[in-house]
Amino acid sequence: MAVLSGPALNNAAPVTMPRKIIIDTDPGQDDAVAMLLALASPDELEVIAVVTVAGNVDLAKTTTNAAKVLELAGRADIPLYAGSDRPLGQRELVTAEHVHGPTGLDGPDLPEPQIAVQDMHGVDFLVESLGASDPGSITLCTLGPLTNVAAALNKAPDIASRIKELVIMGGAYFEVGNITPAAEFNVFVDPQAADIVLRSGIPITLLSLDVTHRVLTTPERLAHIRALGNSCGSAVAAMLSFSEKFDIEKYGSAGGPLHDPCVIAYVLQPDLFEGRAVNVSVELDGKYTYGMTVVDYWGVTDRPHNAHFVRSVDDEGFYDLLTERLRRLP
Ligand code: BDR
Ligand code: CA
Repeated sequence: MAVLSGPALNNAAPVTMPRKIIIDTDPGQDDAVAMLLALASPDELEVIAVVTVAGNVDLAKTTTNAAKVLELAGRADIPLYAGSDRPLGQRELVTAEHVHGPTGLDGPDLPEPQIAVQDMHGVDFLVESLGASDPGSITLCTLGPLTNVAAALNKAPDIASRIKELVIMGGAYFEVGNITPAAEFNVFVDPQAADIVLRSGIPITLLSLDVTHRVLTTPERLAHIRALGNSCGSAVAAMLSFSEKFDIEKYGSAGGPLHDPCVIAYVLQPDLFEGRAVNVSVELDGKYTYGMTVVDYWGVTDRPHNAHFVRSVDDEGFYDLLTERLRRLP
C-alpha cells in the first residue's frame, strides 16, 4: 500500500492509498482465485482493469471466465479487456484443458456473464493506460503467458519505465517443469514473450513452481473455504476440487498446487515469502529444454540480476490470508 507523504495533521495516521494493479490473466481456476483475492482486498489494492490472454484455454473462453469471476465477486464495474489470442510470432497456442477442463473453469456452475467486454484490444489498453500513468504508479500482476505485456513493450518500449513492478506467476527451476520436463506452462506457451519481459529492465518478482508447489489445497484447507458459506467460498472450493485432481494424481501430493494466487498474496503480504535477486534467462534454443527458465540461483555467472526469485512461502499464513479475504466477498 502506498503511503502519502507530507505533513501529518494533528498527529493523524498517514493516509494510505490502495496500490493500483492491472491483472493480466488466462482463467483458469487458480487465476480465478487470484482475481477473487485481489477483489476482496480493496483497502490495499485498486484493480484498475483485467486483461485476458490465451493460455489455459482460448481467448474467448478466458475472457468469458474472467467476466464470470468479476460478476461472482459483484465487481462488474471493473473494465475487462480481451488481449492476445495467440503467442508472439508463429508459435501455435498450447492450452491446458487436461488440467482446467474444457471450459477452463470447470467445477462450479456459474451463470453466463452479462458484462460487456471493452472494445479496445487489451494490448492497446496496456500501452495507453501505462503510457498515461505516473511513472512507477501501476503494478502489473500476470497470471498467464506474457504475450500481452511483451506485445505492449514491443509497441511502446517507454512504458517499461511507468511500471512500478511486474509480479509474475511463471517459470520453475528447482522444481523443474510441469508442461515439459524443463518448462513451466506460462513460459512455455510463449517463451519469446517471457524473454522480452525478463530483459525489459522492469522490476520483476517471479513466483515460480518452486513456491507455488508449496501451497497445497489440502482437504482441510478446502473445507475451511467451503465452510465460509458465501457464494465465492463455495465457488472456490468447487473450482479447486476440480483442478487439484490432475496434479494430485501426477505428484501424489496431499493437494494441488495453487499457483496464481501467490502473485496477489505476494503483493498484499510480501513478508509471507522469501527470495533473492538473481538472473533468470529463458531457453529459446534447447531441444529438450525449450521454454525453461534458467535461474542463476548461486550467482555462478556474471549475468545481471533481472528478477526477485521467490523460493519459499509461509503456506499456513498464505491460506489464512486467502480464507480471511474470501470471507469478505459475496
Ligand atoms: C500456470 O499455468 C496455468 O495452468 C495456471 O493457471 C498457472 O498460471 C502454472 O504453471
Ligand atoms: Ca494462469
